[in-house]
Amino acid sequence: MYNAWAEKIQSQEMGNRLIGYGSYLPERVVKNAEFERVMDTTDEWIVSRTGIKERHFARADETVVDMATIAAQRALDNAGLTIDDIDLIIVSNVTAELDFPSVAVQVAGRLGATNNLPAFDVRGACTGFIYALHCARGFFTAAMHQRIMLIGAEKMTRFVDMTDRSTAVLFGDGAGAMIFEHSTSSYSGIIDTVIMSDGKSFECLHGTENHKIQMNGPETYKRAVMCMPDAARYIMEHAGITADNVDWIVPHQANLRIINSCAQILQFPLEKILVTVDKHANTSGASGVLALAYALDNGIIRRGQLILYPAFGSGLTWGAALIRL
Ligand code: UT7
Repeated sequence: MYNAWAEKIQSQEMGNRLIGYGSYLPERVVKNAEFERVMDTTDEWIVSRTGIKERHFARADETVVDMATIAAQRALDNAGLTIDDIDLIIVSNVTAELDFPSVAVQVAGRLGATNNLPAFDVRGACTGFIYALHCARGFFTAAMHQRIMLIGAEKMTRFVDMTDRSTAVLFGDGAGAMIFEHSTSSYSGIIDTVIMSDGKSFECLHGTENHKIQMNGPETYKRAVMCMPDAARYIMEHAGITADNVDWIVPHQANLRIINSCAQILQFPLEKILVTVDKHANTSGASGVLALAYALDNGIIRRGQLILYPAFGSGLTWGAALIRL
């Protein structure tokens, strides 16, 4: 069942708008050829099966908090704010080095917050940024916060097993941040969200106690091409819009074949689909916000455009968000 309260929530005039964003990608770019040298794989296999050409790998001493803090500072600079102007931080991540405290609290500390702002993490894996957007939408709707910073930050290389070619080539590191501010407009910023999970399908994709990724690739693939279109359709029906009204689809960036299949199922023209998986690979909870920041930085997506963002990941979890940037 989708959220039964959605109708009630959308009727209220407690909106929000995007006022700043920023991102960080580690300096080291790892091309497919590097994997060819250390495992039984080829650039041809990786590109044809996933669309991935390169990814960024963090330094050994670079943490999720380091990356999140840089992205957060860039978002504050972009918005012309300081950390004390923010009254809630939510970080999407599943790869933090420390089990506690949250990455969000550590980012607040690193940025020198003096306003005792609340800060917490959500662990929705590849759907994590949608989970964070969903929380933020709820808080704005309830008029509980004025400015919320959402961050997606992951160091997937903490989980990459260089002896497992079926997962090692798929992931990358990075962080992105967005700041939303309360606004009376109900058709800007985070307009609508839906989040779902199916814990019975845990075996499809999960982390292990010794920090490895366990994935049934083909089964995960099948579920991704069902769940992402399903969530995207729900959002469009709920908002009373069609693909024609949406400027860009920004799907979770795991595999170009999954992205293209979703586009085909939803009958979205390929020129409306943003693809960054070729450059960033799969950065899990940072994927969507990194893609959005990349598109804004490069003038691909313009401020004011309407974005439909579906995602899918470990849990299983999935969902979608409708955002006007
Ligand atoms: O972000 C969260 C959600 N995650 C996803 O959505 C990922 C979903 N799954 C996928 O993207 C794809 O299933 C993969 C990219 C992981 C795998 O692609 P596939 O087309 O489903 O390949 P497969 O797992 O069916 O493997 C086909 C063959 C196998 O060899 P055999 O058994 O046919 O001889 C694999 O051993 O490809 C082999 N293989 C590789 N070959 C070269 C697997 N990984 C590699 C590799 N290089 N890196």
